Amino acid sequence: MKRRLPVWWLLMIPGLLAGCVSRNNMSALDPQGPVGKTQLNLVYLSTGIMTFVVIVVAVIFIYVVIRYRERPGDEKKGIPEQVSGSKKLEILWTAIPVLLLIILAVPTISTTFTLNRKPAPEESIRVNVTGYQYWWGFEYPDHKVSTANEVHIPAGKKVEFVMKSHDVVHAFWVPSLGGKQDLNPGRQDRIVLQADKPGVYEGKCAELCGSSHALMNFRVIAHKPADFQRWIASQKSPDSAPKTAEAREGKRLFRQNCIGCHAVRKGGFNVEGRSAPELTAFSNRTRIAGILPNNKKNLKDWLRNPQGFKPGNRMPAFDHLSEKQLDALSIYLENLK
Ligand code: CUA
Repeated sequence: MKRRLPVWWLLMIPGLLAGCVSRNNMSALDPQGPVGKTQLNLVYLSTGIMTFVVIVVAVIFIYVVIRYRERPGDEKKGIPEQVSGSKKLEILWTAIPVLLLIILAVPTISTTFTLNRKPAPEESIRVNVTGYQYWWGFEYPDHKVSTANEVHIPAGKKVEFVMKSHDVVHAFWVPSLGGKQDLNPGRQDRIVLQADKPGVYEGKCAELCGSSHALMNFRVIAHKPADFQRWIASQKSPDSAPKTAEAREGKRLFRQNCIGCHAVRKGGFNVEGRSAPELTAFSNRTRIAGILPNNKKNLKDWLRNPQGFKPGNRMPAFDHLSEKQLDALSIYLENLK
């Protein structure tokens, strides 16, 4: 019995393909900077060559299957003539793949070297990136500023990301800007990226690094150059003074419970030896731990049960704090500007 594919199955296709639509500037197929564009051109070139090979092979295959299939009366003709070896064909099907590989290799290798060229352009700004299980530390050595999980850059300018890992291998990937670049323990690597326009570009860890690898997200926030300078200035003189009694209690709780791992800077920067994301100007972060929208409710949920949101991260649960204490702590953090 012949079974037909039900029509409703076809109706599922748009739903399945919806996953391919670019959301939050997170598609390598919709590049927003020169590196992403260069890399996409390579993708097009290799996909084009592969498609060409598939089509040629399929056409020859179908032709041969039809042309040389057994037909009635063939038995009487006996076994067809047996051929062995053909110099012409051997040369042809060696030369064509070699040629295709050269067409693929030349631009790939030259692009790889161009993207890795040292030193970085004179006018580029430098950001040191450190990968931790499962968060990102960012430092601006020229500005003496540091932050975590959200990296701010000026649009239209080259940014040199110099990276290392604190623990295992991670990979820095901002699909719409470019990448990926591995972060290796004991080694320094770099990638120079640029966002053409101001905007928020989602980044991901692209190397399996543990149970919360899939949640090791970060954001690249590109500003107009003047806004970027303003951001740098605000980070240089953050406002960490609690304004209300509740916030003061929050600060006391922070000192008691959090300061061993998290830093809140008053100015200057010091990231060495830090084992958890810096929380300076925390209220300006768009997300908590790179995954939850930054608001008081989510912050309290996170403090109560960080493992529930990001399994395997190193933050203990603060469920020994009372509801009132959690309120105070989150009010203090949500007022850090
Ligand atoms: Cu870090 Cu995957």
